[in-house]
Amino acid sequence: MKVSVIGTGYVGLVTGACLADMGNDVVCLDIDARKIAILREGGIPIHEPGLDTLVQHNAQAGRLHFTTDAREAALHADIHFIAVGTPPDEDGSADMKYVLAAAREVGRHMNRYCVIVNKSTVPVGTAQKVRAAVAEELAARGADIRFSVVSNPEFLKEGAAIEDFMRPDRIVVGSDDEQATRIMRELYAPFERNTPKVLVMDIASAELTKYAANAMLATRISFMNEMALLAEVLGADIDAVRRGVGSDPRIGSHFLYAGCGYGGSCFPKDVAALSRAAGDAGISMGVLDAVEAANERQKELLIARIEARFGHDLGGRVFALWGLAFKPGTDDMREAPSQVVVRALVKRGATVRAYDPVATDEARRVLADVAGSVEYQSHAMDALKGADALVVVTEWKEFRSPDFDHIKSLLRKPIIFDGRNIFSPEAARQAGFEYTGIGRA
Ligand code: UDX
Repeated sequence: MKVSVIGTGYVGLVTGACLADMGNDVVCLDIDARKIAILREGGIPIHEPGLDTLVQHNAQAGRLHFTTDAREAALHADIHFIAVGTPPDEDGSADMKYVLAAAREVGRHMNRYCVIVNKSTVPVGTAQKVRAAVAEELAARGADIRFSVVSNPEFLKEGAAIEDFMRPDRIVVGSDDEQATRIMRELYAPFERNTPKVLVMDIASAELTKYAANAMLATRISFMNEMALLAEVLGADIDAVRRGVGSDPRIGSHFLYAGCGYGGSCFPKDVAALSRAAGDAGISMGVLDAVEAANERQKELLIARIEARFGHDLGGRVFALWGLAFKPGTDDMREAPSQVVVRALVKRGATVRAYDPVATDEARRVLADVAGSVEYQSHAMDALKGADALVVVTEWKEFRSPDFDHIKSLLRKPIIFDGRNIFSPEAARQAGFEYTGIGRA
């Protein structure tokens, strides 16, 4: 099928590459000429395992093209995916200006029936706004062309996005029009592999599903983070509690890991946007506000622990920090707990010696305001040399089999603050460490 994907960010690029890999003819459009130039030269502007090969392979096969020309994309495709950003407004609600601008571009140039698909995370009611924007553009040039708008939210996890797209748990399609539903079913049929995956529903429900899914996951994490604080005080171990509750199939074992807070491009933004939208609709969602507040508190937890151990004034101290990305498998620093930890350490006078397998460049950019007090290292062990303590912020796999003796020999003091509970407290203590995890008495 002929597809265009508007926006070559994380979601757009994965969508475009995966649809091309299934044999569709895909044009990816972006207004950012720099990104398009990188993609045309066979590079990719983000870090996502396997994406570079997938993009190169399909580009070489002639199924994946990149352009900055909105007209070219509009004329090419029968299905247009809108996958542009929806950054938070000042009040936390999602800013729709890029989505609507993309819709207008389609309306300005389209020359035949097409399906316009909202892939971006958008508030309930956006499909109607997209429809109105396209209709206005068509009316302005006196064109009488039919089109459909559907909602098809993404559920991609960074670091596993290709697998998530290729083998989805479900494909949510919000549609109120049979022709569009048929086209979407046909597009996604190859991804179903004998098991029905497409869930067709009304548009509002599809739009809300995305927010509800992310808010539910964020709620589980904040719940477990609060439970961890309680576990510590009561002398329990959150990891044992996690195994205990997670083995109930009604609860399930995913997203129950306590830590130093969730980050990323979705959870913080979507929880805030949903809360805001609910408020506008006259529904106060106290649960969501608590989820967010608990997460903010959780991001400060490591600092509170460090202060309790070393005092408020950290002048002259050096902290080794393992992990900067908001989670393993990505170089994404958006809303990363590491940002809170690094800035707080620097503010109290400390130097941070940081190591991350892939996010260093991104961290340099995002943490430019504290550049003078952060030294980035190319090896995990180098970050430890002469540091007062090791602080683990992101649970990269390579940190999981620690050589405690080696770590101890490099640190000035054998102290570990484990913000992701990746080490065994017993093993660390036996090796002579002062070990503090999250929720482990
Ligand atoms: C999320 C959703 O999972 C995905 O479906 C949606 O499309 C986009 O948002 P992502 O932001 O890539 O994906 O990250 P995810 O793996 O969900 O993790 C989010 C944050 O929660 C990370 O900071 C992670 O460290 C944290 N987390 C996750 C926990 O603290 N505990 C857990 O048990 C799980």
